[in-house]
Amino acid sequence: MTQPKLPEQMTAVHLQTYSGAAGLQIVQCPVPQPGPKEVLVKVAASPLNPSDLSFLQGRYGFQKPLPTIPGFEGSGTVVAVGRDTGLMGRFLLGKRVACVTQQQGDGLWAEYVATSVNYALPLLGAVGLEEGAMSVVNPVTAVALIDIAKKAGHKTVLNTAGASVLGLMLHRLGQQEGIEVVNIVRRAEQVEQLNAQGMHTVLNSSDPHFAEHLHDLCHQQNIRLAFDAIAGDTPQQLLAAMPNHSRVTVYGNLAQQDLALTSGGLIFQGKSVDGFWLTRWVGQKSFLPSLLMWRRAQTLLLTALKTEVRARYPLDQAQQAVADYEATMSGGKVLLVVGE
Ligand SMILES: NC(=O)c1ccc[n+]([C@@H]2O[C@H](COP(=O)([O-])OP(=O)(O)OC[C@H]3O[C@@H](n4cnc5c(N)ncnc54)[C@H](OP(=O)(O)O)[C@@H]3O)[C@@H](O)[C@H]2O)c1
Repeated sequence: MTQPKLPEQMTAVHLQTYSGAAGLQIVQCPVPQPGPKEVLVKVAASPLNPSDLSFLQGRYGFQKPLPTIPGFEGSGTVVAVGRDTGLMGRFLLGKRVACVTQQQGDGLWAEYVATSVNYALPLLGAVGLEEGAMSVVNPVTAVALIDIAKKAGHKTVLNTAGASVLGLMLHRLGQQEGIEVVNIVRRAEQVEQLNAQGMHTVLNSSDPHFAEHLHDLCHQQNIRLAFDAIAGDTPQQLLAAMPNHSRVTVYGNLAQQDLALTSGGLIFQGKSVDGFWLTRWVGQKSFLPSLLMWRRAQTLLLTALKTEVRARYPLDQAQQAVADYEATMSGGKVLLVVGE
């Protein structure tokens, strides 16, 4: 396939200051040229994830020089390939891909993005561009966390922020893999919402008897692994409820607070806390297992790893989209719809 003629300018969202939605501006800027080992993707859609909110505030695991284009994942079509992309580059030209961005360079809240040839993942025919846009960060994390639980021999695990898209995926994938995921939420409506989806063991952290119920459940069912998306004092609450030699794996910081831990459980009861970051987990895998895992995740996008979309915004309404997502995070993703 030959490379289509591309425009010189594009619409993009620039983050001008690390100050959340207020730091965003819609700009016209040059369409990027794919560098060596890069492809150029015409962007179709990109979701808002908690990692994007943290990045906009300058609180993510890294910062980029400003201005920069945010957006860690999305989908689109490969319209140009750079030097040294080899067979893979030729294969990808014209293909619909899911796409993630790099620690260096711009993100996906733009009409075009240049990214590493290794970060453009071809979509299966049955996967639409909207589903493809949300097919990496949460689906692959769900696969990873269930894999971690399974390899360590756990039958039941806890998960916090259980009404999140990832929480629902973990529960459904866990069911398929023989692992029960007990989701913990923070509001009564979320308990009802999850019950309506067939999840019957759901705990509400706002319930006055929460700590007691959690302790009883963990001891009755010997629950020794918890996945935590909240941080702050939540890992301590989970550790306190679980039996000796339990572990909390922190994978999010929705509370925007550092951990508040007491040392006794760690020293005398063999309890522990560690962290999970998808980028690090995938980086430890070699090419073939990563590819197989990616294909498997795609086949589950319409079932166990399905993502509901709560709202769609055009690119030039990125500020409103961020404000909407910050105000209401449960109930499905907010998606920036960029092009076809
Ligand atoms: N480490 C990694 O590699 C990795 C990868 C993927 C996802 N994650 C993390 O996974 C988590 C879920 O992501 P998602 O995209 O599935 O989220 P999402 O669908 O946007 O949902 C976020 C959920 O978090 C709840 N929440 C927000 N602030 C909270 C707080 N302070 N305490 C308790 N609950 C709170 C919201 O409930 P309300 O409606 O009550 O606000 C909502 O149900 C996030 O922490 C994200 O950063 C991490």
